[in-house]
Amino acid sequence: MCSSDLSIMGIVVLRTVEEVRAYHNKVVAEFYEKNHRFPTIGFVPTMGALHQGHLSLIKKARENNDIVMTSIFVNPKQFAPHEDFAAYPRTLEADCKLIESVGCDAAFAPTDEVMYPKEPKYLTYVTIEGSDSVSEGAARPGFFRGVATVVTKLFNIVQPTNAYFGQKDGLQAIMVKQFVRDLNIPVTITVCPIVRAEDGLALSSRNAYLSPEERAAAPALYKSLCAFRACFEKGERDVQTLCQATRDSLAAEPRFKIDYLSVANAVTAEELSGKLCDAQLKDGIFVSIAAWIGTTRLIDNIRSEERR
Ligand code: PAF
Repeated sequence: MCSSDLSIMGIVVLRTVEEVRAYHNKVVAEFYEKNHRFPTIGFVPTMGALHQGHLSLIKKARENNDIVMTSIFVNPKQFAPHEDFAAYPRTLEADCKLIESVGCDAAFAPTDEVMYPKEPKYLTYVTIEGSDSVSEGAARPGFFRGVATVVTKLFNIVQPTNAYFGQKDGLQAIMVKQFVRDLNIPVTITVCPIVRAEDGLALSSRNAYLSPEERAAAPALYKSLCAFRACFEKGERDVQTLCQATRDSLAAEPRFKIDYLSVANAVTAEELSGKLCDAQLKDGIFVSIAAWIGTTRLIDNIRSEERR
C-alpha cells in the first residue's frame, strides 16, 4: 500500500485516491478490531504553506477524533487566471514536519491530475447560487465554485466524520456549511477562531509575500476592524457610519487600498445596509475586509460575537 509514504517525516503521505481508500479501510478495520466501534475521522483541508492557524485546526481535530487526516493541495480551480496560483508557496516537506508535530496521522497530497484528470476529461462542478455576489465571492468570481468543488471531492475521498475550517476565511466557512447542508453531506463542520500574531495580524500563508515594511504596516487591517467594533459597542447601528469609521482607521496606513468592506448576516452571508435592527443582529454580523498592500491582497474579518 502507500508506496509514496514520506516515511522520513513519520507521517503517511497519500498521493492517490486509491491510496486514501486503502489507508481508510486499513485504519478503520484496525481500530474496529481493538475498540469494537468505528473510529471518528477528523479532517483539515489545506493548501499547504502551513502556519499556526492551520495547526490550531489540526490540534482541534486531534482533541476530538480517533484519526486525523489533512489534505495539502493548491487547488487550481479556485484561482482566476490573473491570481497567484503559480506563485502560491508549496512547502510539502516543511508542512509534513509541522503536521506530524501536532499529531496528524496522514496527509493526502494529490497532484492536479489526480484531482482533475485530463483523460477522461474532468467536467463536474459544485456551484452555490449567489456566492459570486457577496464580498469575497464578488471580488473573486468563481472562487467559491472552485472551493465547493474541491471540498466536496475531498469529503468524498477522505470520508471524514468532522471537518475543521478557520474563521479567517469566514465567508468560505459559511459557504461550506451551506453546501454541506444542501447536499446532505454526512460531515460535521467546526469553524475555529482566527489565530493572530502578537500585533493582531491574522496568520495567513500569503503573509509570506509581504516585505518587512509591508509586514510592519499590515496590522492596520485588523485595527480598522477594531475601529468598527469600538463604534458598534458605543451603540452606533448605521452601517454606513460603522464602515466610515473602519475606512478612516485604515486611511492612517496609506499603503493599503481597500478592495471591499462588507457587513453581512453571519449565517446567510446576506449583505446588510441602513440601520441594523435587533432582528438583523440575531444571527450575528460578519464584517469582512479585503485590501491590497503592495501586490499582496490580505483579508480579515470579525463577527459580532467575537471578543479578544
Ligand atoms: O482555505 C483553504 O485553504 C482552501 O480554500 C481549501 C478549503 C483547502 C480548499 O482548497
